[in-house]
Amino acid sequence: MAQITIDSVAKVFETARKRTVALDQTSLTIDHHETVCVVGPSGCGKTTMLNLIAGFLRPTAGTITLDGRTVGGPAADRAVVFQSDAVFPWLTVADNVGFGPRMQGMARAVRAERIARFLDLVGLSDFAKAYPKELSGGMRKRVDLARAYASGPDVLLLDEPFGALDLFTKESMWTALKRVADAEPKTIVFVTHDIEEALFLGDRVIVMTPRPARVHGIVDVPFGPDRDLDLRADPGFQALRMTIAHSLREVHDDAS
Ligand SMILES: Nc1ncnc2c1ncn2[C@@H]1O[C@H](COP(=O)(O)OP(=O)(O)OP(=O)(O)O)[C@@H](O)[C@H]1O
Ligand SMILES: [Mg+2]
Repeated sequence: MAQITIDSVAKVFETARKRTVALDQTSLTIDHHETVCVVGPSGCGKTTMLNLIAGFLRPTAGTITLDGRTVGGPAADRAVVFQSDAVFPWLTVADNVGFGPRMQGMARAVRAERIARFLDLVGLSDFAKAYPKELSGGMRKRVDLARAYASGPDVLLLDEPFGALDLFTKESMWTALKRVADAEPKTIVFVTHDIEEALFLGDRVIVMTPRPARVHGIVDVPFGPDRDLDLRADPGFQALRMTIAHSLREVHDDAS
């Protein structure tokens, strides 16, 4: 099981110059093996929320639990993919993917099997021996995804992972992520500014308020797991896109 509960969480950043309340009384439950996409105004606190779930930050108040256990710090049960690549330039693609499993002490044969499996799922089997500098930005992102999956987390946290990619590369990343997620379901929290991306990938889309980030609205995505890129032409998809856009405009206007 991997259910995440964010219960009345506050996060306050205090520096010598400034006090910022990024989250306050923020609550959200993310179900086991659900993909939740989070959208919201820039600077509202989405990355902060992800960092709290990851255990990189501690809440100022409230609790975050994973299957009832309080998140106390980073652990192998949660993997994170950021917008910038988290690949080691001095390691081959295969060694990057196998790094987490090696740190966890997985046997060499198990590691090799996992590396092969996830490189295949992200479509990079032919590049196992390549170094990151020999890859395109989209390919490095695939390595990053394979790396995140290979260490066998229960939860995948993604912060605008495809934000820097062009549309076609992005589309191919959606397909790659869906393929891996179907093969190995996880509880996924995916932060994005791209409404179509959120609707294409999510079971629910959460619209956050301006800072402090709280849940402004939740959209249940009615499409089944078998989604192809043409789904975007569906009138139901476009109607939901408009609903979310309006919701975002509402919170934006409230803030300004
Ligand atoms: N380590 C930190 N120290 C001080 N303030 C911080 C820190 N991290 C984030 N903040 C502040 O908290 C607020 C929320 O930041 P956060 O990065 O979570 O926003 P975001 O929703 O992810 O924005 P974006 O969509 O632009 O990525 C911002 O005002 C930011 O300046
Ligand atoms: Mg952010």
